[in-house]
Amino acid sequence: MAETDREIKDSLVRAGRPDRVEGRHVNMPVELGSTMVFDTLAAFEAARAERYRSGTLYYNRYGNAASFKLETALATLEGASAVTLTSSGVAAITLTLMALTAPGTHLLVADNVYGNTRAFCDGVLAGQNVEVEYFDPMIGGRISALFRPNTAAIMFEAPGSGTFEVCDAPAIAEACRAHGVTSVFDGTWATPVFCRPLSLGVDVLVYSASKYISGHSDCMLGVVACSDADLAMRIRKHVMAVGDKTGGQEVMLVLRGLRTLDVRMKAIDAAGRRIADWFAGQPQVKRLLHPAFESCPGHEFWKRDYSGAAGLFGVIFHPCADDDVRAFVDALRHFGIGVSWGGYESLVLPVRPVRTAQRWDEPGPLIRFNIGLEDTQSLIDDLDAALPLMNTGLEA
Ligand SMILES: Cc1ncc(COP(=O)(O)O)c(C=O)c1O
Repeated sequence: MAETDREIKDSLVRAGRPDRVEGRHVNMPVELGSTMVFDTLAAFEAARAERYRSGTLYYNRYGNAASFKLETALATLEGASAVTLTSSGVAAITLTLMALTAPGTHLLVADNVYGNTRAFCDGVLAGQNVEVEYFDPMIGGRISALFRPNTAAIMFEAPGSGTFEVCDAPAIAEACRAHGVTSVFDGTWATPVFCRPLSLGVDVLVYSASKYISGHSDCMLGVVACSDADLAMRIRKHVMAVGDKTGGQEVMLVLRGLRTLDVRMKAIDAAGRRIADWFAGQPQVKRLLHPAFESCPGHEFWKRDYSGAAGLFGVIFHPCADDDVRAFVDALRHFGIGVSWGGYESLVLPVRPVRTAQRWDEPGPLIRFNIGLEDTQSLIDDLDAALPLMNTGLEA
């Protein structure tokens, strides 16, 4: 496992590269195919017997040389015994939850999970008689009180989607272990550059490599990583049984994205903090929801468990009219309006948190910013020019 900053940087460059033959390519080429052929029936049968294992060449739906390289690289970075790739981050989440639950089981879900995770739990799992219960993400070790004899798994995330609370992941993971409940953690925000959740004790790490890992908003891919080999195989078989798979081009683009992940994350961290700091000084701003700032719930857990901050954060503004929010967002020239994040372009999106375990009491607008790789001062100038359009009554 890559642990120190130096090991992570070296692994990002070295892991999952082509085999060391003379005249090798620097990156794995795009690998396309369906049938793989064998010269003897015995070789084919041996491959079929081992087809679920990462590294076995059998049929392209189970993986190929390039996808196995990516799985190995990610397993090294995350300290996982095995990694399975999926067609998107959502597929990583939904297929994992399907593998871990069954009718009659109970699933605990943090109240601040990604919107599609909630939609899947309510729209699909609940319809299959899985009892879905939402909990306060800041519950920490007190999660034990919610466990029932039929609790199969918990799904949580840090920082929370849209609202950025950082939970006490080690305390939640430890409580799960003590009660035999499988913990599933969405670690998309931090990437292995800033946090390795398996080392914090979570059983299953899922994430969207469509964001920072690939880094250029030009492909989609999901990742499931586990420390326990049996658990990893159980989820992998489920992914294969459903027939989910990644494309050759996506695998190549994600492998390529890994090579620059460290420099991108560090540049984005510095830019994000500078812009968040600028926001903190603006009279229209009520509160910053950036894990590296004290105003963000769980800032102390971020300080303990993370070595840096991604460039995605929220800002709560003092109340103003909806039209003012629209005017502000529309006036920004450097920020695209769109879902997803983690590419090189800055993005902006108003967020309306959905809560069922607690209430969201903030009356003012919450806006999410994804800081990209543009010049930081250009972004600040852009925000500075547009912000007076937010008529909060508190302008300087
Ligand atoms: C926290 C989080 N997890 C998962 C996903 C889903 O990833 P994908 O878009 O690759 O399906 C997203 C997408 O926005 C996300 O924000």
